[in-house]
Amino acid sequence: MKKYTRILTVVLAAILLLALYACGGKTTNKTVKPGVLTMATNAEFPPYEFHEGDTITGIDAEIAAAIADKLGLKLEISDMDFDSIIAAIQSGKADVGLAGMTVTDERKQNVDFSTSYATGVQVIIVKEDSPIASVDDLFSGGYTVGVQQSTTGDLYTTWDLEDEGLATINRYNKGADAVQALVTDKVDCVVIDNEPAKAYVAANPGLVILDTEYIEEQYAIAYSKNNTELGKAVDTALQELIKDGTVQKILDKYIKV
Ligand code: ARG
Repeated sequence: MKKYTRILTVVLAAILLLALYACGGKTTNKTVKPGVLTMATNAEFPPYEFHEGDTITGIDAEIAAAIADKLGLKLEISDMDFDSIIAAIQSGKADVGLAGMTVTDERKQNVDFSTSYATGVQVIIVKEDSPIASVDDLFSGGYTVGVQQSTTGDLYTTWDLEDEGLATINRYNKGADAVQALVTDKVDCVVIDNEPAKAYVAANPGLVILDTEYIEEQYAIAYSKNNTELGKAVDTALQELIKDGTVQKILDKYIKV
């Protein structure tokens, strides 16, 4: 009799563990669309995200795919304006935002951020013959600066320069449009993240990136404050991918030094 009780206990315990495991799996993977990790991005930011034919590819797309894989989810990428990404997460249209997005205190009020997976630097692009040769020159005043709307390049130059009456800021929907404005002399410089800056300068002869950096920042994944379970799962998966070298491998594939 005693033996049967013991066996029964073991069997019951096993069933309980299985049930717990199943439930755990389900709550972790509660997503906007069942079985799918929906990533909001703005695919105008090479090499982090950009269009290649019909598909969106790049560092963020590959990191998100690796995370989705770990969580047993399918990845779907939703392309939108950069300043719609946080709203899409808050309103339950997307699970995560990966967009070379800088962690800032303001954004932290609206979304949670993962561990940082990359460093970004705001740099200044000018024409080769520009009188602007350093960040200090930009602060000497009177210039027109092009930025991508609502990016940190926009936020910082607005606070540092426009609000102080030191510059005019022209905001564009895409970084590429800001660069085009520089090419056609509508702005004197563009403040933008270093990696897309390299891509834009490579594509437009006559442009250079100044040696002095505007500011260094951290990129991370944004997710909802209302689904901490998923946020935790995403962050854990990301940390594993950082630890096992996958993230570095993806960065190295796109960023050649
Ligand atoms: N790092 C900057 C920011 O967070 C720019 C990011 C722009 N990303 C994009 N996919 N367009 O504001």
